[in-house]
Amino acid sequence: METQRAITIHTIQNGKEHFGEYGTSAHLLDYLSKQTPFTLQAPCGGKGRCGKCRIQILSGTPSPVTDAERALLRPEELAQGIRLACLTRAEGDLSIQLEGSKRPIGNKSFLFPHPLPVDGSLRTLVLELVPPSLEDQRSDHSRLLSALATEALEIPPSLLRELPQVLREGNWRTTLLLQKNRILSLLSGTPLGKTCGVAIDIGTTTVAAYLFDLYTGEHLDSQSELNAQGVFGADVISRIQFSLEGPANLTQLQKKILTQIDGMIHQMARRTGIHQSEICLACMVGNPTMIHLALGLSPRYIAEAPFIPVTTEPLLLPARDLRLSLSAGAIVRVPPAVSAYVGSDILAGVVASGMAKAIQAGSAVPSLLIDIGTNGEIVLAHGDRLVACSTAAGPAFEGAQIACGVGGVAGAIDRVSKAGDELSYTTILESPPLGFCGAGIVDLLALLLDAGIVDETGRMLTREEAAREGHPLAERLISYDEEPAFQLVGAEKSSTGMPILLTQQDVREIQLAKAAIAAGIRTLLKGSGLSFGDIQTLYLAGGFGNYLDPRSAARIGLIPKELGGKIQSVGNAAGMGASLALLSEKTFFLFQQVRERTSYIELSSSAEFQELYVEEMLFPT
Ligand code: FES
Repeated sequence: METQRAITIHTIQNGKEHFGEYGTSAHLLDYLSKQTPFTLQAPCGGKGRCGKCRIQILSGTPSPVTDAERALLRPEELAQGIRLACLTRAEGDLSIQLEGSKRPIGNKSFLFPHPLPVDGSLRTLVLELVPPSLEDQRSDHSRLLSALATEALEIPPSLLRELPQVLREGNWRTTLLLQKNRILSLLSGTPLGKTCGVAIDIGTTTVAAYLFDLYTGEHLDSQSELNAQGVFGADVISRIQFSLEGPANLTQLQKKILTQIDGMIHQMARRTGIHQSEICLACMVGNPTMIHLALGLSPRYIAEAPFIPVTTEPLLLPARDLRLSLSAGAIVRVPPAVSAYVGSDILAGVVASGMAKAIQAGSAVPSLLIDIGTNGEIVLAHGDRLVACSTAAGPAFEGAQIACGVGGVAGAIDRVSKAGDELSYTTILESPPLGFCGAGIVDLLALLLDAGIVDETGRMLTREEAAREGHPLAERLISYDEEPAFQLVGAEKSSTGMPILLTQQDVREIQLAKAAIAAGIRTLLKGSGLSFGDIQTLYLAGGFGNYLDPRSAARIGLIPKELGGKIQSVGNAAGMGASLALLSEKTFFLFQQVRERTSYIELSSSAEFQELYVEEMLFPT
């Protein structure tokens, strides 16, 4: 009987190669996400809608091109062997090339110019144990307990695994790192190494980790990467759906993110010459779905009304339970969340911006904090209260669901300006243009509104209409999918070899996203009896906020124009807040105190929000 030969897939990304068996994979995206270490973003979660999971077939036998691929890829791309991984199967051996994995630049970075404050809750204890003998056959555990004498300490079971080796290597002298009555780390002898901790911000798009010296608060290193779960969808809803589609999917999502975080910690440790056993504490923030997935908790009920998470409580978890290779007793602080859609990342922003301390003191001047990502979370501080809401802005501002959209990576167009009839742009790291990140799209749209190419309803002129009006930018209008599109960069200048366009459909996506944010702001203010004039500061958090030009944001109506002059970008405030809670237990508790003073407004059932949303759909004239 003839046995079927296994299909082998040869994959290349960033010069690294991988060989694997295709097995029973449903399509190449399925194979790549499960069986290779490579990163491929799949914003629509493999539904064949976004056209972003591009791969290049170098040789071999793929399945025939589908109609959906013909609709999403241009003939020139198909001719170059470009295919969509979620719509392509292997019918024989294949050699495929993935685009270089793009590291997010700057959008999760945070400058830590000075050591951050530490609260001194850590201490070390050096113990000399009596060596065992035939006359003294107490266990290592009992020996340690009697050496601790009056110290009533918890010894986590994970420490027992390392105890025999640590005691013998240190010739029965050991150093304990303690926080209150908990042993975080047990080291041989009296080592001179550092005592470190890592703050982690799990964003739906980007994950960032920051390494600190726990005693001095000195920032030692950072690492930022696109979330490896991106292969299962760009937004939280796609990831939740994926987690529900098969019994092993939740485990797969958890493994993906924890392996990524562990790898990031490993890289920072290697760069700074720190052993991972010297990292004794972690603090992890994120939106509730990201935290659920990292903890292996089902996010099922986050996605359906009445939107109930498994937990929003603060947690202290052994790092070993999360398979993070830190010191044996290391714990992970997980600060609390507010609701299913306002997580510890937003509270971290409230802490980092200083709003939390003002609320605690009961003297917060009216101020807003907005984090625009795949969801737009908005919080309003006033007196001793915080009011929060979350709007489904969609991933448009993160470059997903935008024809030429990319994240905040090298080559992303982040600024567009006009002098006379000349348009110019800048890109992140001044790399050749790759596509638009959110800030670049907002800039260009603001210019097109000013120029009359896009009207207040969001309709874009066709080339013929613009030419009839003698518009100097008419030449840049082309037809794309039978609708107008504005070409900013020609194929010859773009790093993809394809023109970089803002399409009519992109404008519609931005319109929906900006209306959701603007209506959310107005709903919060109305509910609190405040007006735009009362707001003193609008803190803009997240990568998008870093690059966004406030004038353009006001021009397209994303931020009400009355607030345009009050915007203060706070960078990756979530990473900063996580770092503060890593270094200070008091700050970790501050999250909880603020949460207790927070009320949440559910916008999906707010008639007022719906009305404002429709109003905000128009662009300002
Ligand atoms: S088209 Fe394949 S992931 Fe969206």
